[in-house]
Amino acid sequence: MKIYPLLLAATLISGCNASNVPNASRPDTGRISEGLLLAEKSQCTSCHDLDTKVIGPSWNDVSSRYNEMIRSGRESRKDVEEMLEKKIAMGGKGNWVSATGGMSMPPSYPKVSRENIRKLVEYILSLKPN
Ligand code: HEC
Repeated sequence: MKIYPLLLAATLISGCNASNVPNASRPDTGRISEGLLLAEKSQCTSCHDLDTKVIGPSWNDVSSRYNEMIRSGRESRKDVEEMLEKKIAMGGKGNWVSATGGMSMPPSYPKVSRENIRKLVEYILSLKPN
């Protein structure tokens, strides 16, 4: 008897998700909406958007830049991930001056856990603009 309402709730929730996916034409929508949710919860989205500069650079631009560095062999994926994790945790500036006019990103750690920062970096690098 207890299982029925749970099942109903699960059906309703998954039904909701399907219609609320930000861009249903993207292939990896489950992961994308999960990443976006975490970004919203972590208050990244007050300064970042996927395809528009807000206060910080658009995450599509961030993903393009670093995926290109990894593809060309200029940086290893591990080094890129570590650099971005550290930057998000501690804050910083200087890499996106032409987009931001030199604004700094404030530190997100410990408000956002190391584990969630790692997930956010993975999510951002998984974005495939174009
Ligand atoms: C108050 C505004 C603000 C918030 C909140 C913010 N950022 Fe940023 N972010 C910036 C700015 C400004 C830059 C550009 C820094 C630079 O020029 O190096 C940036 C840069 C970045 C970069 C690129 C770093 C680089 O060196 O290339 C990533 C990735 C990033 N932010 C992710 C996040 C994530 C994830 C969160 C949430 C946990 C977050 N940001 C929260 C403003 C913000």
